[in-house]
Amino acid sequence: MTADAPDRYGVIGYPVLHSHSPVIHRLFALQTGQDMQYELLQVPPDKLTSAVRQFRRTGGRGLNVTVPHKAAVVALVDDLSERAESAGAVNTLTFGPDAVHGDNTDGVGLLRDLQNNLGLRLAGASVLVLGAGGATRGIVRPLLEAGLASLTIANRTVSRAEELRQRFARWGDVSACSFEDIDLSEPYDLVVNATSAGLKGETAPYPADAIGPSTCCYDLTYGLQPTPFCQWGAANGASRSVMGWGMLVEQAAESFYIWRGIRPDTQPVLKQLSVNAS
Ligand code: ATR
Repeated sequence: MTADAPDRYGVIGYPVLHSHSPVIHRLFALQTGQDMQYELLQVPPDKLTSAVRQFRRTGGRGLNVTVPHKAAVVALVDDLSERAESAGAVNTLTFGPDAVHGDNTDGVGLLRDLQNNLGLRLAGASVLVLGAGGATRGIVRPLLEAGLASLTIANRTVSRAEELRQRFARWGDVSACSFEDIDLSEPYDLVVNATSAGLKGETAPYPADAIGPSTCCYDLTYGLQPTPFCQWGAANGASRSVMGWGMLVEQAAESFYIWRGIRPDTQPVLKQLSVNAS
């Protein structure tokens, strides 16, 4: 690698070919004048370790990590940030001269989108999270730290929700239940879809009574068309139904900051992706 070659970054996942991260990071690099390139690494689980090592050996400076590698990559880092440790997942690898650092920017990405972009007040809010997989693990601690009035995790397999309740108990009270047992005595301020049902073309038993006229429905999934969950939210009278484009851009901005020490302005990038609330 010559001295003036751009610094190399990328996203590793499977599948990853339709990832929007290269576009987002290129826009950040242009905006901040950083000389870097950003690659797509389509790597199946059995090749994860060798691909990460090779990227580092050949001069790579950092990687974003996406589905399905976020939990597996924890084993490849020398030190983990607190937020990656509590999430049990890494979405940002930084290759230092002597060590590999793992961090997780998903939670802060969600919070910045909810609070800064959408203007939601999380302090005192009642929040219902649907799903208890890896996506939920990444967001529970930052949500609890925002000072919610209540956080309920509902999952098809109730034992997984219960596991998360226990895992995060030291950061705050979480209720864990099945979809059937969700407390629907009052609508929630925020309902987050963290299931992978929509991604697989399935429908989960989303609870219509969780929605009132001031409820925001937020889908961690995003697409070019409104997701089934967002359509469901809008059809059931939510004040807003929002896909996770903002979270995607905000988590990318935080990764960029970790790597380059500069915080890009996310607003023009969000506009350029011409996405947002429906
Ligand atoms: P990831 O780690 O990528 O989030 P995961 O661990 O398989 O993937 O989690 C997917 C989440 O979506 C889980 O909460 C899953 O529920 P189960 O724990 O019961 O499997 C949820 N999910 C997926 N398909 C669903 C469906 N059709 N209805 C309800 N929940 C569903």
